[in-house]
Amino acid sequence: MAEFPTPEKTFGRQNPFAARLRENRRLNRQGSGKDTRHIVIELGSAGPTYTCGDALGVFPRNPEALVHEFIETLGLPHDAALNETLASSAVLNRVRKKFVRAVAEKASGRARDRLQDICADDKAFDQYIFDRDVIDVLRDAPGVHFEPGEIPGLLNTIAPRLYSIASSPDHRPGEAHLTVALVQYTSHGRQKQGLASGYLAHLADQSPVAVYVQPTRHFHLPPSGRDMIMVGPGTGVAPFRAFLQHRAIHGHSGRNWLVFGDQHEKSDFLYGEEFLAAQKSGLLQKLSTAFSRDQAEKIYVQHRMEEEGAELWRWLNEGAFFYVCGDAKRMAKDVHESLVKIVARHCGKTLEQADEWVAETLMKNENRYLKDVY
Ligand SMILES: Cc1cc2nc3c(=O)[nH]c(=O)nc-3n(C[C@H](O)[C@H](O)[C@H](O)COP(=O)(O)OP(=O)(O)OC[C@H]3O[C@@H](n4cnc5c(N)ncnc54)[C@H](O)[C@@H]3O)c2cc1C
Ligand SMILES: NC(=O)c1ccc[n+]([C@@H]2O[C@H](COP(=O)([O-])OP(=O)(O)OC[C@H]3O[C@@H](n4cnc5c(N)ncnc54)[C@H](OP(=O)(O)O)[C@@H]3O)[C@@H](O)[C@H]2O)c1
Repeated sequence: MAEFPTPEKTFGRQNPFAARLRENRRLNRQGSGKDTRHIVIELGSAGPTYTCGDALGVFPRNPEALVHEFIETLGLPHDAALNETLASSAVLNRVRKKFVRAVAEKASGRARDRLQDICADDKAFDQYIFDRDVIDVLRDAPGVHFEPGEIPGLLNTIAPRLYSIASSPDHRPGEAHLTVALVQYTSHGRQKQGLASGYLAHLADQSPVAVYVQPTRHFHLPPSGRDMIMVGPGTGVAPFRAFLQHRAIHGHSGRNWLVFGDQHEKSDFLYGEEFLAAQKSGLLQKLSTAFSRDQAEKIYVQHRMEEEGAELWRWLNEGAFFYVCGDAKRMAKDVHESLVKIVARHCGKTLEQADEWVAETLMKNENRYLKDVY
């Protein structure tokens, strides 16, 4: 991790700001299968500033227990400097091929043969490293030893992770709120967590956190008087919480429509009370929700969009901006497809014409289809 900067420097990825954690609260209620955190980072008056739509870069650290287990398993000497280097710089929850090859090289007997066979077969090798961490690999080759100096070159260096900022800078000045989904899974008999989401989820009050602001190039609020439709399932809701706070504080007159989705209404309606209050106060003209696991068949945000397709088209036709945030792999693609279908159905175009209208008019020429997907 980079050194904490002196105050006169500009903060950035090379010069993270030493912020403090002010709040770490689980947003999911009892019975949920998920762990999504509301994280408040205190930037104070000396820290970096941001605008709605920006992301916060966070430099994570490995859990002490994992660092300790790695040191113990390798029989390394207990050394504060090595401990710190491993905790702050080395990826331990994933492995690179170079590490597995080095372990195979030092292993003996059947363990060596097995690992070397895996290393020689591209497909088997990809599969092997997919869900193993350093401990899983070392357990496959008991007794392997490395000198401390050999280790850094065998492990990837920790990179910061980005999180969409879930607050307006004018909501509680000096704070940045994040909505973080804890990545967790079990493989090879051991529980694993994502490096940065695990780090943030376990961070105690007042802990130092190294952060920087990653300004968005394109994901900005629309002009004050323009309507916006925001599609943000799961953690994708984060920037829209910020947008709504900002519009409330600054009295923007444009209408707001939020389409939110997650697994269960009872336990996973992230910031549900805030959004229901915004609906009551008139800040949110429309709130559509899709709880995917509250019934036998899956209901996703794009299904709600299609159900309300006529109205969605009216908003678009009247100049509304359309925003999508969250999962890039499936959700954003499906939402795009539904948007095209809605335009075709309610504006009397063929699917090809609708596709072209969405891509050329909405997205390219008028710049009112904006995505923040990851
Ligand atoms: C612009 C931007 C904004 C973002 N905003 C947010 C946000 O607001 N909230 C948010 O939560 N995230 C957000 N992200 C994602 C975030 O940056 C991290 O990628 C995310 O938190 C995971 O990081 P991690 O370090 O916890 O996990 P990592 O340590 O990077 O681990 C994730 C990896 O775990 C592996 N994995 C997951 N499940 C399994 C499994 N069952 N078996 C085997 N392997 C598995 C996957 O290969 C995955 O690559 C954003 C990303 C970008 C680029
Ligand atoms: N690209 C990535 O690496 C990436 C992106 C986003 C999230 N994630 C990971 O996923 C976990 C949870 O993320 P999250 O809480 O933000 O939400 P999420 O997993 O994206 O889920 C939010 C809601 O979207 C639903 N959903 C699933 N597939 C969908 C689709 N094709 N179209 C529309 N909706 C769909 C989910 O339903 P069901 O769960 O019932 O299917 C759920 O109701 C985290 O561990 C996070 O790191 C990874």
